[in-house]
Amino acid sequence: MELAVGGGMRRSASHTSLSESDDFELTRLLSKPRINVERQRSFDDRSLSDVSHSGGYGRGGFDGMYSPGGGLRSLVGTPASSALHSFEPHPIVGDAWEALRRSLVFFRGQPLGTVAAVDHASEEVLNYDQVFVRDFVPSALAFLMNGEPDIVKNFLLKTLLLQGWEKKVDRFKLGEGAMPASFKVMHDAKKGVETLHADFGESAIGRVAPVDSGFWWIILLRAYTKTTGDMTLAETPECQKGMRLILSLCLSEGFDTFPTLLCADGCCMIDRRMGVYGYPIEIQALFFMALRCALQMLKHDNEGKEFVEKIATRLHALSYHMRSYFWLDFQQLNDIYRYKTEEYSHTAVNKFNVIPDSIPDWLFDFMPCQGGFFIGNVSPARMDFRWFALGNMIAILSSLATPEQSVAIMDLIEERWEELIGEMPLKICYPAIENHEWRIVTGCDPKNTRWSYHNGGSWPVLLWLLTAACIKTGRPQIARRAIDLAERRLLKDGWPEYYDGKLGRYVGKQARKFQTWSIAGYLVAKMMLEDPSHLGMISLEEDKAMLKPVLKRSASWTN
Ligand code: GLC
Repeated sequence: MELAVGGGMRRSASHTSLSESDDFELTRLLSKPRINVERQRSFDDRSLSDVSHSGGYGRGGFDGMYSPGGGLRSLVGTPASSALHSFEPHPIVGDAWEALRRSLVFFRGQPLGTVAAVDHASEEVLNYDQVFVRDFVPSALAFLMNGEPDIVKNFLLKTLLLQGWEKKVDRFKLGEGAMPASFKVMHDAKKGVETLHADFGESAIGRVAPVDSGFWWIILLRAYTKTTGDMTLAETPECQKGMRLILSLCLSEGFDTFPTLLCADGCCMIDRRMGVYGYPIEIQALFFMALRCALQMLKHDNEGKEFVEKIATRLHALSYHMRSYFWLDFQQLNDIYRYKTEEYSHTAVNKFNVIPDSIPDWLFDFMPCQGGFFIGNVSPARMDFRWFALGNMIAILSSLATPEQSVAIMDLIEERWEELIGEMPLKICYPAIENHEWRIVTGCDPKNTRWSYHNGGSWPVLLWLLTAACIKTGRPQIARRAIDLAERRLLKDGWPEYYDGKLGRYVGKQARKFQTWSIAGYLVAKMMLEDPSHLGMISLEEDKAMLKPVLKRSASWTN
């Protein structure tokens, strides 16, 4: 096979942080192979070097940047039927690009981000006219895949400036590293100036600071670096400092006995009270991924070295904790069901004193013989057994999940298709909480009633994460099925933010239309399925050093 070595890597003398394997990984990504290899195999980072690439940046076509189905498409890991699809772009793709471009926000003449929704029909704008950091991620990936990295670079640099602000909620000063949930461009027509206004949680509902923003920022910086081959951005003192500030917030020592990150309810995509306080899977998976991305980009200089060491230690403990205690499959469930309680000492099997009676009834039917998932939360005497999409997909992409666990997560999705995908991919979590539990957990939140919004609603944005996970685990046909479902409704329904109901059949009660991340999520899913080599920008290869056997919690097990 012939490999065309693409854009060279520049590295400053002090940039010694990339290990041999990371270095190799990046080099391979930058290599754009020329020939098409037709082979069916699991598609992880490893295979990035041996698939065909559909061509460089800036292909002609829509807006001079987008060419539907243009260029040579890879057939690797894609069933023949979907390969056929990739040559025949779906008619809604063009509409999606137009809608995405309409959501662009400019700052001093340069595109800087995309607003959360461009819904003219909606009476209340609330904060949907802002650029949300987490919402911008799928937009950014779409632009990167389409050869438009400048907007991503601008976003990364400007959000760094926002991070530099002094952040206060009442009289309390937030940590230096906090990244905003969202920001807005303010126009002063009189003075003819534009300024940025950011929200770090001080205006948010519930006043929660977003823990995920900083992690997404680091993950996006790596995606930019990996796609463009431009390492100079990540190497700037500003980006290095930005990363260190985010990291010092989450690597600081406290009283915690767990390597997971302690959080307030609503500090992530689920930004309202939903019982996701403590150690929510979404944050733990993003934390893990951000740590791994930072490890690849941090310089081993005087300031960076200390962080590199801390990250390595934390990753080791975090992966062990997550793979052992958050993991649930048929066997684990059966073991927990038979747990003894009140075990004192180091040899305790039931370490967190989980009372088997707290296992909810639905779980016994839901758990297939084949398949498994990372549960929502683990803390003393509390296991939140709900399934959350984002955390599980990120666990696959970051290789927090072992290869076996990744396969099991995908098996579960196939086995429980109706529950998790239904008529619109993808449930944000499963199942919904109802009645008394809903009152207690959500505080009677009328937006989060059962099977709506964050409480078991279906979010099209999650399609890109599902697709990426499918490609990584070599099961593109699952993504194909899900995309087909989405294509039947999304344009017709005006790109809603979410769908309601057990099957996700109804446009969400209070869903915005023309929700940008629903649009971008669809485009990213589409482009990734057509050209799986895009996966590398958002996926990390397994780190063998981290691989530890999952604990078998049989009664005979001792520490
Ligand atoms: C809602 C979602 C949040 C998203 C925001 C903007 O608040 O819960 O995840 O970032 O809308 O779309």
